[in-house]
Amino acid sequence: PGAKLYSANCQSCHQATGQGLPGAFPPLTHLDKVVQAKGGREYLIRVVLYGLQGPLTVGGTTYNGVMPPFRQLRDQEVADLLNHVLTTFAKSKAKPISASEVKAQRAKALSPQDVLKSRPPVK
Ligand code: HEM
Repeated sequence: PGAKLYSANCQSCHQATGQGLPGAFPPLTHLDKVVQAKGGREYLIRVVLYGLQGPLTVGGTTYNGVMPPFRQLRDQEVADLLNHVLTTFAKSKAKPISASEVKAQRAKALSPQDVLKSRPPVK
């Protein structure tokens, strides 16, 4: 179910390959490091629910873009989407993200800038 959600909601920016577009949209291939870091699971969920804005450096390239929020997706859809991204593009073996983890992050009111501040320090 995550693959369809990805093509409908994310692919226009992050591309079918998850490689992004250099300088405009970051890749998603490094996200195993993010999900494994302390606070990384919560951060990834927040990015989808609240969007992201501000300077972000990934793999030596700095992005200073705006990602829109996807609040309209259900908890299970956010989980399916992130699990698809993590296993397909990031080759992650992390424990899958659950709908209840998504629900806990939805109960907050974060700005896209707040979300960036909560990013764990990984390259
Ligand atoms: C950043 C995932 C849709 C544009 C990110 C990051 C993730 C992500 C996880 C942060 C990467 C990191 O911290 O290393 C997704 C998913 C999407 C989606 C799962 C579908 C729900 C989009 C769309 C756009 C977009 C449609 C363009 C309209 C961006 C930009 C950034 C970003 C510009 C960097 C923001 C900044 O510079 O602070 N995305 N994305 N994303 N995404 Fe998305």
